[in-house]
Amino acid sequence: MKFFVDTADLNDIKELAATGLLDGVTTNPSLIAKSGRNFLDLVAEICEVVDGPVSAEVAATDFETMLKEGRKLAKISPRVAVKVPLTPAGLKVCKALSTIGTMVNVTLCFSAAQAILAAKAGASFVSPFVGRLDDVGTDGMGLIAEICQIYKQYPSFTTEVLVASVRHPMHVVEAAKLGAHVATMPPSVIRLLFGHPLTDKGLAQFVADWQKTGQTILG
Ligand code: G3P
Repeated sequence: MKFFVDTADLNDIKELAATGLLDGVTTNPSLIAKSGRNFLDLVAEICEVVDGPVSAEVAATDFETMLKEGRKLAKISPRVAVKVPLTPAGLKVCKALSTIGTMVNVTLCFSAAQAILAAKAGASFVSPFVGRLDDVGTDGMGLIAEICQIYKQYPSFTTEVLVASVRHPMHVVEAAKLGAHVATMPPSVIRLLFGHPLTDKGLAQFVADWQKTGQTILG
């Protein structure tokens, strides 16, 4: 399973990339607004730091402008995955860009039917928003199960299921059990994945016991 970080904070991205466990980055207009950075400059900088897909979202909603924006974003780096909304125009842009070899992430997916359309449009990634579905009393992870099941029926579908709007580690674990290809998480959730009180307790004991030996490994 690939781990992407869902942020536009370059410091967080650099820190997580240094773990060697980061496979990509996703951004969205809300995250860019929060960063206060120039969008194009920031995307270029992220592409320098991360060895993997970097999702950069178009701002327009009409086909012609989205296509122009998508082409411009794709020129920044071959690592850019142009993010388009799951609308008829967005899917049309997805088809046009994927046909010329540009990665496309189709975002704001809230149904299995929409995910089928994204695959048919040649998306590299489809982003179902599990947290936002949970927020309105719908089973977000149920949607991931449905999409994974459907995609497995069709080997010609190469679209990767990118679980988005992840709120806690169990979303990641459940998505992994279902075989989702990617989880994109806020930095806080990635950090939570590492933790377990028994790891901390066990390590403290090992450190204390090792000190009793009076030895050093490095001499
Ligand atoms: O970037 C798309 C998605 O991950 C946003 O998540 O937390 O705003 O619902 P959230």
